[in-house]
Amino acid sequence: MRIHILKDYEEVSTKAASVVSSQIILKPNSVLGLATGSTPLGMYQKLVEMYNDQMVGFSEVITFNLDEYLGLNPEHPQSYNYYMYNNLFNKVNLSEDRINIPSGDIDKLEEFCKEYDQKIDRAGGIDLQVLGIGTNGHIGFNEPDHILKTGTHVVELAQETIEANSRFFDSLDEVPRRAISMGMSSIMRAKKILLLASGENKAEAIKRTISGEITTEVPASLLQLHPDVTVVVDKKAAKLIG
Ligand code: PGA
Repeated sequence: MRIHILKDYEEVSTKAASVVSSQIILKPNSVLGLATGSTPLGMYQKLVEMYNDQMVGFSEVITFNLDEYLGLNPEHPQSYNYYMYNNLFNKVNLSEDRINIPSGDIDKLEEFCKEYDQKIDRAGGIDLQVLGIGTNGHIGFNEPDHILKTGTHVVELAQETIEANSRFFDSLDEVPRRAISMGMSSIMRAKKILLLASGENKAEAIKRTISGEITTEVPASLLQLHPDVTVVVDKKAAKLIG
């Protein structure tokens, strides 16, 4: 793992955007695995700025998002579809037929999950997977458990995740209990991984990811087995790794 400890969220976002834009510049038809949540927001803003300054283009890029809440339609302001269209997809020249993101209102779930994995395979696998991390060490919505799922699957969200994400909803009861998530094998088969974290509340998860035991109870710890992981964190998130 390459670990970059930077001053603050702003610097994390700049570094993350430069990793993603370099990937696209070196391979214009890159397959990107994308994450949502508060952490990559600054990275998306900077990528949009770079696009507006004609420093990077997305016309050949293919994207696969990690996850989506079940029960929220794509227009719901807290859905990850809404987030991605508002923060990136509608602001750059990504073509609609190259965007892949699970929808929260599909009914043939099993079929959808199988097809999502096949689409990733047909695209040649993910070149660069961007990840945030949950305070419990989840990546995507792969929650701590005694086993982890390999492919795209339906997840029951952990209580810690529901509580952490309730800040985006009017009440705890409104947070969806289920989601669709890419599995660990799609993530681990990505050629490169970029893991981002900011803030003291991620410090324990980052410590357990980087130097803890490899355990399904901390899904991000499996990244220690991946040959090309770049971790970009601010000082607060790096507090326990020195
Ligand atoms: P956050 O979420 O970026 O909103 O902190 C990360 C995650 O839960 O994976």
